[in-house]
Amino acid sequence: MKYYFTTPIYYTNGAPHIGHTYTTIVCDVIRRLKRLEGYEVALTSGADEHGVNVERSAERVGKTPYDFSTVMANEFRMHWEELRIQPDDFVRTSDERHARTVQWMFERCRANGYVYKGSYTGQYCVFDNLYVNEAKPGDPCPECGRPTETVTEENFFFKLSAFQERLLELYESQPDFILPETRRNEVLAFVKGGLQDLSITRTTIKWGIPVPGEAPHVFYVWFDALIAYLTGAGGPDWEQRGLWPADLHMIGKEITRFHAIFWPAFLMAAGLPLPKRIFAHGWLLFEQDKMSKSRGNIVRPRPIAEVCGIDALRYFLLREIVFGQDGSFSYDALVGRYNSDLANGLGNLASRTLSMIHQYRGGAVPDSKGDPHIADALNQTVAAALDGFNKFEFSRALETIWQMISVVDKYIVERAPWKLAKSKDEAAPELLDRTLYSAAEVLRVLCGLLAPVLPDSVAKIWSLLGFAEPVGSLRTADLTFGLLKAGQKIPEVQPVFPRIEAKPAIARMRELEEVERARQDALLGKTPAPAAGAEAPKAEAAAPAASDGTITIDDFVKVDLRVGIVKSAAAVKGADKLLHMYVDIGEPEPRSIVAGIAKAYQPETLVGRKVVIVANLQPRKLRGLDSQGMIVAASLEGGLPVLAGFLEDVPVGARLK
Ligand code: ME8
Ligand code: MG
Repeated sequence: MKYYFTTPIYYTNGAPHIGHTYTTIVCDVIRRLKRLEGYEVALTSGADEHGVNVERSAERVGKTPYDFSTVMANEFRMHWEELRIQPDDFVRTSDERHARTVQWMFERCRANGYVYKGSYTGQYCVFDNLYVNEAKPGDPCPECGRPTETVTEENFFFKLSAFQERLLELYESQPDFILPETRRNEVLAFVKGGLQDLSITRTTIKWGIPVPGEAPHVFYVWFDALIAYLTGAGGPDWEQRGLWPADLHMIGKEITRFHAIFWPAFLMAAGLPLPKRIFAHGWLLFEQDKMSKSRGNIVRPRPIAEVCGIDALRYFLLREIVFGQDGSFSYDALVGRYNSDLANGLGNLASRTLSMIHQYRGGAVPDSKGDPHIADALNQTVAAALDGFNKFEFSRALETIWQMISVVDKYIVERAPWKLAKSKDEAAPELLDRTLYSAAEVLRVLCGLLAPVLPDSVAKIWSLLGFAEPVGSLRTADLTFGLLKAGQKIPEVQPVFPRIEAKPAIARMRELEEVERARQDALLGKTPAPAAGAEAPKAEAAAPAASDGTITIDDFVKVDLRVGIVKSAAAVKGADKLLHMYVDIGEPEPRSIVAGIAKAYQPETLVGRKVVIVANLQPRKLRGLDSQGMIVAASLEGGLPVLAGFLEDVPVGARLK
């Protein structure tokens, strides 16, 4: 029994944050759950390296795209290792084996008549790597709302239009091909609206997989990226590996369309079996806000793991968020959940049960069959929780398990072992044995059930229960009440989930978050390199501003002037003077800038142009749009503004001073 599944392969122009971590943790939980069920599991993750975004990010730090990508791919790998999330394979799209798979797929699609050469003129979103067929110049991207760019290229096209009927048939005959239901409905509506052929190669990019015999064409990043799932299953040799078709592609909802439409169509065209399921989970917000680099509210996993432990993060993400829906992360809620559910709930049950066995039974599991009503409740819990896990209803499954914990807590209080131990009643010793055995047995089974979610802490409880073999070797058949052996020795009790004091813990996480942010920013070249030459004199720094209208050098250097490149530009509805632009100024995310230059410039002519930006103006809103900087232009009396620029080529992000 094999179970092959995948995380998305993450873009290497950004560093891992809690969003990527969420998907990858969920997959790690599924991996361990499937193993519990007895499957041989293979999880593939990876890095999506090609395309213009990575090319530009690399240029910014003066590295080749490959070297830059290597640093970032390692950043992901290092994170998964530190968090003890264990994908079985990590496909880099720059791997030789991947290039072979992509080229092989292309040849198969072409041989089957689904590829032709044509010319494309239309709108393209560089951020989502998406051709927006229905859009007009300046229209926003339907995925991210940023203005699209007009591109004209000779491309190879994929006959996506030929697959409309077959795709609809697929969704009808396999209603659980795309989950959850809301995502399925979106895809259905989209496909019913008609499909246009898809350009799958580019000639304007160098950093990509070459189309065999068709230089300078390289593959479009999504054609390249999706095929990574097949590379992880052996590529052209997939049949020998026995992993393909994948049982599941786990993704975030924003990339549903690529997975639910393009991917099955590519596979149909190549005559390959289709994956069994695509699950698109919800979006993770930070304290109710969309995480974004420009807002500086990205949360990274490391500080959380360091202060609260990896299991606290795993538990929080699975318990707090209804899987499939959007959810919110906050430090407060994380610490709250930890203290109430882990420290007080599971941790407390473990330590009181184990200490009582020490106190009243010399540290050995008493000989008893346990209480039948506890046995029943536990067996029902196991069935309900496994059912929940199987449907990826993690929150519900965990809730069920915690209901069982409170059942046992109440049971212990009612039985009051501390009274039974002192009682002269003849029945008391047997009742005490039964109570302690029942509690310990519940603990054992819950360990098995929770190990996929809380691997580290459960391993601790497991060894405190006196087991030598790892908890990971359990199978579902072991999760039945009554298998714990009498006489098993319980080692000395130790706390498993010490309480966390919220205030200092949160302060510490925020502090570490700053450190982590600075470290990742340096990798991404976000801190701009100081311009060569001119150094501001320091001695005169404190001179006050003169009254004759001149300013000191100090006043001047307060203004952060930077070279930027316009990535997109669009008219602003209802404002005939304004243009809305995204300008890359050497930070991981472009600045959104609104400027009064619409009368002077057609938006399309600005894309790719180098400009000067005042980068440290207080951000403001214009017509509901964020303006995070000012574009420098000559303002001519009675004439139109003229943008400042350079005669020589200057790198994006360079400072003017
Ligand atoms: O899209 N909330 O890569 P990517 C929840 N390379 N999940 C989030 C998240 C958030 N705030 N942010 C990121 C790409 N994710 C492509 C994929 S696959 C063939 C190619 C997770 O680096 C979520 O799984 O932008 C999302 O789909 C993925 O990271 C996007 O990562
Ligand atoms: Mg993304």
